Formats: sequence, structure tokens, C-alpha cells
Amino acid sequence: MKKYKLKNGIIVTLREGNGKDARRVIEYIQRVAGESDNLSFGEGEFNTTVEEETAFIETCKTLDNCIFLIAEHRGRIIGCLTFSGGNRSRLEHYGEFGVSVLKRYWGLGLGRMLIEYLIEWARKTGIIKKINLKVKSDNTRAVNLYEELGFIMEGTISRFFYHKGRFHDVYVMGLEIE
Ligand SMILES: CC(C)(COP(=O)(O)OP(=O)(O)OC[C@H]1O[C@@H](n2cnc3c(N)ncnc32)[C@H](O)[C@@H]1OP(=O)(O)O)[C@@H](O)C(=O)NCCC(=O)NCCS
Repeated sequence: MKKYKLKNGIIVTLREGNGKDARRVIEYIQRVAGESDNLSFGEGEFNTTVEEETAFIETCKTLDNCIFLIAEHRGRIIGCLTFSGGNRSRLEHYGEFGVSVLKRYWGLGLGRMLIEYLIEWARKTGIIKKINLKVKSDNTRAVNLYEELGFIMEGTISRFFYHKGRFHDVYVMGLEIE
């Protein structure tokens, strides 16, 4: 567990999740889904059960190339990051992550902290050599953040999202870990 001070002075803790967090994680994700158009699901579309989420988080804990990160403020989940590496020897060094922060905490440095934690963890694993992500091409806030953290634009997948009657491209961005 690590403690960090955000730009507005509040202290948040970053820690790896466990099965007992599942219910609160689901509630958090359902909330975030309604706050942003930039995720792969919208309001009412995250229907994972507590059992499934528990299994996902617990499995993650047993794998050396996966991490489920939770940010909390006063015991409330305010941010999450999940990274999953491949499950075959040719792919175990490679993984993708997703990150989110509750809207009222945007712009305070939490997204950056979660990703910096991920990069530091990845270096320490000795296994992870590549971190990738997909980001909606109009998600300027996220793209800026990833570029500042060293991620390189690797390409575009057209028509990846379908939302509100139109298709949206995503950028593929990646960071090599030495
Ligand atoms: C993307 C997201 C995780 C960023 O988290 P955050 O805690 O707001 O990010 P931070 O405060 O750490 O960093 C913000 C960075 O984004 C950029 N940024 C901040 N506000 C911005 C704005 N209004 N417009 C454009 N860029 C902005 C800056 O580069 C800033 O860096 P700085 O620290 O030098 O100011 C968060 O906005 C979020 O959860 N969005 C909804 C879900 C989502 O889009 N997830 C990513 C899917 S790929």
C-alpha cells in the first residue's frame, strides 16, 4: 500500500485489490460508466456479478503478470487500473491496461499516479516488457497523459467503438519496459 497527496491536498491510498473488494469495485465501475463516454461500456452495461468479479480479482493476484490497482479516499474507491499480461509464454511479457477515475477527482494527478505505479510494478516484475492501451481518438485528456508518461502512438483502429449512432476510432499506444 502507498499513500499519495493529490493536487488539492487530499491523501489517497493505492493498493492491490482482493476478492473482498469485488462488490465495491462493481459499484464503482457502474458509477464511472455513467460519467464518461470514453469507456467500452456505458451506464447499465457493466453487468459482471460479484462472484465473477471476485474470481477475476483473485486470479489476478495469483498471476505475476497481472495487477488490479485500487485508489481509495477515506475508504471509498475513487480510481482503478487493471493490467493483464498474456497467458502463453510468447505473450506473457505483453499486456494491456484500462484506467478510470471518479469524475469529481479528475485533473488532480490520480490517473498519472495509477499509471506510474503500474510502470514501476512492471519494471520490477522482470516479466513485463511491453504495456499497451487503446484510447478513443477524441479522449484528449487521456492521450495527453499517456504521451507525458512516455507512451508512443503505434496506430489507429478504425470503427473500434460504436456509440450514439456513430463509429469511433481508437489509438493504440505502447510503452516498452526495459
Ligand atoms: C483519463 C483519466 C483516467 C485521467 O485521470 P486524471 O486523474 O484526471 O488524470 P491526471 O490528473 O493524473 O492527469 C491529467 C493529465 O491529463 C491532461 N489533462 C488534464 N486536464 C485536461 C483537460 N481538461 N484537457 C486536456 N487534458 C487534460 C494533462 O496532461 C494532465 O497532466 P498534468 O498532470 O501535467 O496536468 C480520467 O479522466 C478518467 O477516468 N476518464 C474517464 C475514463 C477514461 O477516459 N479512461 C481512459 C480510457 S483509455
